[in-house]
Amino acid sequence: MKKILLTGGLGYIGSHICVELINKRYEVIIIDNLSNSSKNSLDGIKKITGYKPKLYISDLRDKLSLLRIFKENKIESVIHLAGFKSVNESIEAPLSYYNNNINGTITLLEVMDQFDCKSIVFSSSATVYASSNEMPISESAPLAASSPYGSSKLVIERMLQDLCSSDDDWRISILRYFNPAGAHKSGLIGEAPNGSPNNLFPYISKVAIGDLEKLKIFGNDYKTQDGTGVRDYIHVVDLAKGHCKALEFMQDNKKIIVVNLGTGNGFSVLEVVKEFEKACNKKIMYEFSERRGGDLDKCYADPSLALKLLNWKAKLSLNAMCRDTWNWEKKK
Ligand code: NAD
Ligand code: UD1
Repeated sequence: MKKILLTGGLGYIGSHICVELINKRYEVIIIDNLSNSSKNSLDGIKKITGYKPKLYISDLRDKLSLLRIFKENKIESVIHLAGFKSVNESIEAPLSYYNNNINGTITLLEVMDQFDCKSIVFSSSATVYASSNEMPISESAPLAASSPYGSSKLVIERMLQDLCSSDDDWRISILRYFNPAGAHKSGLIGEAPNGSPNNLFPYISKVAIGDLEKLKIFGNDYKTQDGTGVRDYIHVVDLAKGHCKALEFMQDNKKIIVVNLGTGNGFSVLEVVKEFEKACNKKIMYEFSERRGGDLDKCYADPSLALKLLNWKAKLSLNAMCRDTWNWEKKK
């Protein structure tokens, strides 16, 4: 069995990738410092797959423990998700974002290099694209960071490009995620944000369950079908499968690829609210409020490169994202 190190593997996206990897018969080793997750994810993974991956509770920046992990396990490839991910938080605490995201990645790459493990899939984000871009966004569109979080992703992307130019042995997949949503259909793993959620799906589901009173819709005067913001929501299970495809691709190709993972479809906030109401069979209370600083009117992917290179295409619908988010919320 091929051993894959999954950094940040107890988190929202990592736990779903873990399930897909186990389904594909990979041996998964997780490193996570629990800064935004808990060991409960491991129980969910075990219930879904019948298998409990090896877990190291450790910080990626702790080089000694990372060296120990590589010594104890013959790791073939790494899927690197560990990092902080909130745009707002990064504006308030830029140094902690640069420190965690960039130093964590440097430490990881140094140790990988030392152990001659030169294959990595990196979680990047659509936030690296400049806001002036035409839709849909292809991978060659201009890049610009509008927050320290986005800058940290751009720096890491650049670092990976430089690494690849310096040494032909590296195989690197940079995956730019659009808006991950949904949960595993079992309802045993899903997104569990600390505190009040910032993103649309977790916020709506808290309104549906009664923990929050109403959704504030940030702006209804955008140039979109109904005036509310349009995004490319992608089911987290589709996203996870994209990582398995990237691993397969890297087996035969020594180079760096940069690929969007999105559906190519844009849905407005009001469309998501309507679909969620159907899924939970409840009215979602909402009110319109001011636009949120930094938000775009529309953002959706051109996903054609992923199909061409990875033979991957998102399959699950907005309805499935709402149904599975609600199922997870009820079972939590
Ligand atoms: P998450 O916070 O649920 O998962 C990240 C995991 O990494 C957590 O379990 C956390 O405890 C761990 N972690 C953080 N810093 C660490 C460190 N120094 N050492 C060890 N573990 C550490 O986030 P997620 O939504 O699963 O996102 C995973 C990755 O995908 C992140 O890199 C994020 O930037 C990227 N991404 C996420 C989204 C999204 O909407 N969720 C969109 C685009 C990109
Ligand atoms: C945000 C981040 C982005 C990150 C992504 C996934 C910002 C500016 N961007 O994207 O970098 O990659 O999350 O983690 O934070 N909305 C409401 N009310 C709410 C919440 C959201 O109306 O309470 C609207 C937003 O205005 C937007 C849409 O819902 O139109 C989606 O918002 P969100 O889920 O936060 O994702 P993004 O802003 O696209």
